[in-house]
Amino acid sequence: MPAPAIDLKKVTVSLNGRPVLENITLQIQEGEFWGIIGPNGGGKTTLLRTILGIIKPRGGEVRVLGISPKEAVKRGWLGYLPQRMTGRNFPVSALEVVMLGECNRSNFFKPFQREEREAALHALRLVGLEGKSQEPFPQLSGGEQQRVLIAMALASQPRVLLLDEPNTGVDVVAQEGLYQVLRRLREELSLTILMVTHDVGVISHFVDRIACLNTTIHFSGDPWGAMECDLLEKLYGEPVDVFVHHPQCQGCHVLRSKSHDHD
Ligand SMILES: Nc1ncnc2c1ncn2[C@@H]1O[C@H](COP(=O)(O)OP(=O)(O)O)[C@@H](O)[C@H]1O
Ligand SMILES: [Mg+2]
Repeated sequence: MPAPAIDLKKVTVSLNGRPVLENITLQIQEGEFWGIIGPNGGGKTTLLRTILGIIKPRGGEVRVLGISPKEAVKRGWLGYLPQRMTGRNFPVSALEVVMLGECNRSNFFKPFQREEREAALHALRLVGLEGKSQEPFPQLSGGEQQRVLIAMALASQPRVLLLDEPNTGVDVVAQEGLYQVLRRLREELSLTILMVTHDVGVISHFVDRIACLNTTIHFSGDPWGAMECDLLEKLYGEPVDVFVHHPQCQGCHVLRSKSHDHD
């Protein structure tokens, strides 16, 4: 059996003495596409930063493809799109943004080499933006900026891609484009993808597995299993309506949690 892409065993993280992640056990196999949902402050970003080795857990163990996060980052195996990077006025072209992601450069200040340019163009091609390589980054739409930043995360040719709310601030049509790109990346590069998102209804169509996180993992498994309102209510701490379009049903359902019935 190959090592899982991501393997967390009983991971506990405290920040400023406060527990943020408790007893997280999660195994993600190579090539899987996972969605992570949960309320604000539930620890989603902290989980990604722990997988990246930026945060050291107080307890438990984190392995990435069988090795430590630090070593995996050193080998360029982890690509990362941090939360809320759009809106930044990088005064450079799309291509230059992608080249900044080729961080295994021996000297950051030396001029870009031809092969770095080629690799960056290839990454832009993967996200469907080869035609925009010379556009100034600030002039691209929100959805295009996110795709450029995904290309940047791909520049080190990672095996695992971590995305923190890539769909925030992106309109519905562009969001659909973003998901198509992720699906293609996964098919063409056999990438393992872990995506944090608020988009509970839509991602069920795109991911293989879902984890619901609020300090601890309340559910992990089949995305349709996560669509239970009572589970989501427990996760978000308030009654929720979920609009779903299940592949096996004709139309959209509205699921309502039980507490709504007593309104
Ligand atoms: N650097 C930090 N220092 C102290 N507390 C933090 C830090 N980063 C996040 N937190 C706290 O950890 C909790 C989880 O945050 P975060 O992982 O950003 O949640 P999410 O991404 O799910 O919204 C929050 O209560 C937040 O205030
Ligand atoms: Mg976050």
